[in-house]
Amino acid sequence: MSRPVLAAVFLALASGSPALAADGAQLFNMQCRMCHTGGPMGPSLVGVAGGPIAAKTFAYSPGLKAKGGTWTDANLDAYLKQPAAFSPGTKMLINVPSAEVRAALIEYLKTLK
Ligand code: HEC
Repeated sequence: MSRPVLAAVFLALASGSPALAADGAQLFNMQCRMCHTGGPMGPSLVGVAGGPIAAKTFAYSPGLKAKGGTWTDANLDAYLKQPAAFSPGTKMLINVPSAEVRAALIEYLKTLK
C-alpha cells in the first residue's frame, strides 16, 4: 500500500467513517486493545461477553466488582455508552457515543474466546 492510501485509511478511521465503523476488530484494535491486555491497565476481555461482570484477575473498582450479574448485550451496551453511569466510580473512563460502533464492538467481543 502506498503512503497516500495508508493516510486515507487512517483519516477515514479517525473521522468515524460509517463504512469502516462496522468493523469491530479494527475499532477494538484502535480504541480498546491498548488497555485490555490483561495487564495493570485493564482486564483481559477474553470470554467477557456473556460472562460474569468483573471476574478476571484485575484490581477492579469497588463499584464494578460489587455489580454482579452478566455481561449481556444490553449491559455491555450501557457500560460502553457511559461507563460511569453503569458503574459509578469505574476505572474505565472512555465512552463510545455511537450505537453503531458499540454494536460492532460487542459483536467483536463475542469472538474473543
Ligand atoms: C484507558 C484504558 C481503557 C480503554 C482505552 C478501554 N478500557 Fe475497558 N476497562 C478499563 C478498565 C481499567 C476496566 C476496569 C474498570 C473497573 O474496574 O471499574 C475496564 C473494564 C472493561 C469491561 C468490563 C470487564 C470485566 O472484566 O468485567 C469491558 C467489557 C470493557 N472494559 C470494554 C472496553 C471496550 C470495548 C473498549 C474500547 C471501546 C475499552 N474497554 C477501552 C480500561 C480501558
